[in-house]
Amino acid sequence: MRDNLTVAAGTLLDVQKLRAEFPILQTTVYGKPLVYLDNAATTQKPQRVIDAITGYYSEYNSNVHRGVHYLSQKATAAHEESRHKVAAFINAPHVHEVIFTRGTTDGINIIASSFGRKFLKEGDSILISAIEHHSNIVPWQMICEDRGANLKVIPVNNKGELIMDSLDDLLDETVKLVAVTYVSNTLGTVNPVKEIIERAHQKSIPVLVDAAQAVQHIQLDVQELDADFVVFSGHKMYGPTGIGVLYGKEAWLNELPPYQGGGDMIKSVSFKKTTYNELPLKFEAGTPSIAETIALGVAVDYLQEIGIANIQETEHQLYAYAVDALKTIDGLRFIGEAKNRAASISFLINDIHPFDLGEILDKQGIAVRTGHHCTEPIMQHFNIPGTVRASIAFYNTQEEIDQLVAGIKRAVTMLS
Ligand code: ALA
Repeated sequence: MRDNLTVAAGTLLDVQKLRAEFPILQTTVYGKPLVYLDNAATTQKPQRVIDAITGYYSEYNSNVHRGVHYLSQKATAAHEESRHKVAAFINAPHVHEVIFTRGTTDGINIIASSFGRKFLKEGDSILISAIEHHSNIVPWQMICEDRGANLKVIPVNNKGELIMDSLDDLLDETVKLVAVTYVSNTLGTVNPVKEIIERAHQKSIPVLVDAAQAVQHIQLDVQELDADFVVFSGHKMYGPTGIGVLYGKEAWLNELPPYQGGGDMIKSVSFKKTTYNELPLKFEAGTPSIAETIALGVAVDYLQEIGIANIQETEHQLYAYAVDALKTIDGLRFIGEAKNRAASISFLINDIHPFDLGEILDKQGIAVRTGHHCTEPIMQHFNIPGTVRASIAFYNTQEEIDQLVAGIKRAVTMLS
């Protein structure tokens, strides 16, 4: 269940101490202590992230990049400081390669639209994998349809691992871009993205990495990966919703046309001709999500402070504990048993519908996600309607896993 990148060995985090900074983890639902195991959907926020949002609105709410006045200068400085923090966090060579977006979906749509309009023509193709989230399928389908291009898919085996032997054949001369997830939100599979990038680059094909389920679990080093584009969301890394990051290599971002037109993304506008701004603003039309950007910077500081290697070590142990504990449940079968996995564990029990199980767990204060997890093609591959998914974060505990297992056993008794 290790990821396939070499990381410095981490040490186990003091989880109880860290949990104290998350107000929601102190709450109860239906009178029961909250057991939050839906972290792949969104993570909870530490107090300092919440404070950053209220601090902006109560102390220096103002628009950015526009005002000479004190508040605007202060907001602009904080907003741009976050860009520096994100760039350092992912080891981007240039700060202007960090584009703020609304989230992962937004980032993928930007590249699908901009890259597709410029480079895709009839007969070309985009290569994705069989275990993508809908957000890394549908934008490509839309642009392929528009351009007369095709979508090709790296197949998956029954463990939930990509069939890498098929890659060289799939990477034919029609492929103009590969878009692949780092970690599957449904199966937890950690894809060999570095190898995919290397093999695509041997044929001069650029690669977009969907790191929405990776950035909070695995040290993301865009230079080590050599990815051309990387996208992720703030809200899955202890930051707010409505903010995300698109990293792109400078050369590519300079090549691509803007996605949206509007304020901030222009150099000059006349009715005859408009010229576009430099990076990163060329891709940031309109007033950005300022409070969210600033709070994302605080979340990045937080992750740096506790250390991704330590998060990885702590989560790795908890993941193994959870898999072993779930195995004690009669009739439980895992959906996705890849060698390299992180964070998400999907399963089914006998013929119990995932939704029924999820509802009974909910009444016990246990939050899991049920359904297709925005990955219908994975469900089609396994010929199932959906799964129950428990997804962990560093702040989860063995006691919570024990409660999940006890809750499932109780639910199975009720439903049988
Ligand atoms: N993509 C998120 C999930 O997997 C919402 O739950």
